[in-house]
Amino acid sequence: MDGLTLPLGLVFLLACLPGVSSGSSGSFTSMFTLGDSYIDTGNFVIMAAPVAPVWNDKPPYGMTYFGRPTGRTSDGRLIVDFMVLTLVLFPRPVSAEELGLPFLPASLSNSSHIAQGVNFAVNGATAIDVGFFERNKLVQFKLLNNSLDVQLGWFEKLRPSLCNTTKGAGSEGCFGRSLFVVGEFGVNDYNFMWTANKSKHEVRSYVPKVVKTIASAVERLIGDGAAHIVVPGNPPTGCLPAILTLRRSPAAADYDRVGCLRGVNDVARHHNALLRAAVGGLRLKHPHARIVFADFYRPVYSILENPSHFGFVGGVLKACCGAGAGAYNWNGSAICGMPGVVACRDPAAYVSWDGVHFTEAVSRYVAKGWLHGPYADPPILSAVPH
Ligand SMILES: *[C@@H]1O[C@H](CO)[C@@H](O)[C@H](O)[C@H]1NC(C)=O
Ligand SMILES: *[C@@H]1O[C@H](CO)[C@@H](O)[C@H](O)[C@H]1NC(C)=O
Ligand SMILES: *[C@@H]1O[C@H](CO)[C@@H](O)[C@H](O)[C@H]1NC(C)=O
Ligand SMILES: *[C@@H]1O[C@H](CO)[C@@H](O)[C@H](O)[C@H]1NC(C)=O
Ligand SMILES: *[C@@H]1O[C@H](CO)[C@@H](O)[C@H](O)[C@H]1NC(C)=O
Repeated sequence: MDGLTLPLGLVFLLACLPGVSSGSSGSFTSMFTLGDSYIDTGNFVIMAAPVAPVWNDKPPYGMTYFGRPTGRTSDGRLIVDFMVLTLVLFPRPVSAEELGLPFLPASLSNSSHIAQGVNFAVNGATAIDVGFFERNKLVQFKLLNNSLDVQLGWFEKLRPSLCNTTKGAGSEGCFGRSLFVVGEFGVNDYNFMWTANKSKHEVRSYVPKVVKTIASAVERLIGDGAAHIVVPGNPPTGCLPAILTLRRSPAAADYDRVGCLRGVNDVARHHNALLRAAVGGLRLKHPHARIVFADFYRPVYSILENPSHFGFVGGVLKACCGAGAGAYNWNGSAICGMPGVVACRDPAAYVSWDGVHFTEAVSRYVAKGWLHGPYADPPILSAVPH
């Protein structure tokens, strides 16, 4: 995605040549994304700041790329940022970044620049409705009402301003050149249960409900006219410094050879297997929709298995930004963004940015694997509309 060296003048020249414009060479013209903190570009800060302390709007968030906090929960760009740079308007080799196009605005920012898409993701978002976690006492605090269903409602509310036709479905409709990303979802659903000290057996029992919720959302989007949808699975959450700290175990057998928690990763893989099967079912039911299953587990785990090969020489299971010291550098009372909590000098050498979220370096690798393969079925760039 980087190393795109076409000079700007040439870019505009190419764009004006018949047959090379985005319209005829094949491209997505917009992206609409639903999800959680792995792809939120600012909604959480807008939604939460009036009601609770927020930390991802403070330095050192954004230190690597934007040079300031942007509401992204990372040191820099997120997976969807790399995707939008590559996909929207121009596929390859010209990036939107070079053309000065904006990243996707957060939906709650009320931006008027929505022609290239909108990001509805919010930190902490669950697949299952938030009321479920509160009723079942799985959380000790009030959750923001930001679940998948609510985000879909936001999209549907905005839809008339993007598309007025009633025949609007499929590749001929308003969203025939739009890429939808649904997720990842599930990480927060399961993490609330893991941190509530639920057993593996209990957490695992919720997987079918979470997967069914995601699959229903994908179907609802197809009904709304979506023709290209990416459905990411869960990363290896048993390798997150926060989960490793909160679920620390005295039993060596609870850890795999990388040092991740086996039980937590087992549930993430079970989720991914069921979600992948659900995507297969949706493809049969909706043969005109292109549905990509994006693997979030393998790219992250591949890095963890062989970190120096990928340049991650600083910390593998240790957060870059934190005040926990120890093997994981995560402390729930002193998290990144709080006063006195500092980041490592070279985030690109770390897998985990703040104990829960990945560094920009990881997001770049994951996005590349989703766009070009091998971490998506089929690779997103193989399904660009013509
Ligand atoms: C966006 O618009 C809504 C509805 O008009 C309003 O309530 C909200 O405060 C606006 N948000 C921002 C960040 O301006
Ligand atoms: C969340 O918002 C939706 C509408 O956007 C509403 O139907 C639902 O009752 C709300 N849930 C909670 C728990 O407040
Ligand atoms: C669709 O119609 C509504 C109401 O008539 C209008 O406000 C909106 O601008 C239209 N959207 C598009 C994309 O034409
Ligand atoms: C967590 O659950 C385990 C058994 O499932 C129990 O032994 C342990 O005491 C619990 N820990 C806390 C902090 O509740
Ligand atoms: C975690 O942070 C709190 C608040 O700064 C501090 O009091 C506590 O000692 C820290 N715990 C560890 C294990 O570092």
